[in-house]
Amino acid sequence: GRGRTDVTVLVLGLDNSGKTTLLAALRPPDPRPHDPRPHAAPTVGHSVDHFTSGGVSFSAWDVSGAARHRALWERHYRAAHAIIFVVDSADHLRLVVAREELELLVSHPDMCGRRLPLLVLANKSDAPHALAPMQVAAALGLERITDKPWHICASCALSGAGLADGVAWLARQVR
Ligand code: GTP
Ligand code: MG
Repeated sequence: GRGRTDVTVLVLGLDNSGKTTLLAALRPPDPRPHDPRPHAAPTVGHSVDHFTSGGVSFSAWDVSGAARHRALWERHYRAAHAIIFVVDSADHLRLVVAREELELLVSHPDMCGRRLPLLVLANKSDAPHALAPMQVAAALGLERITDKPWHICASCALSGAGLADGVAWLARQVR
């Protein structure tokens, strides 16, 4: 690791993959008696959220995944210490698009060759016909990424399942 305890993580992935929902699930519980965690609306622009894992404090940039906003992702690349790439495991048709966007991301001049840890979340594991993480990894061509440590795990942002394990891996990579 590189001993970081304050980490800027970019949360990227196609629109509707569950980025905003999973950041709400990772947020520390609200001390007020009711913590409604309302359904996420599509993100406009970006917002910053916070969570902690394994003694690491993460500032998470939640960026819109809508096609017309994806060109804005690269503005955040240089400041990033880590990436979370979120995929809707049940959206089989758009896995091809997700793969293209991931390829653009890892080959971008501000990313290429940097050993940034890349956590891929095969999200919506609860959905009917969701692909297993191994299948999502194959569809995304993750084995071709050799300049970054990467890890894939299944997650369900609605229940929070899989998220703690995923971000614990990220925390171990940066510490
Ligand atoms: P953009 O902001 O448009 O880029 O989308 P996003 O990636 O932030 O997606 P968002 O969190 O807004 O979630 C999109 C929809 O998917 C919402 O209706 C969520 O409730 C739903 N959703 C998110 N995660 C899961 C999951 O793990 N399982 C299921 N079944 N639905 C999910
Ligand atoms: Mg969002």
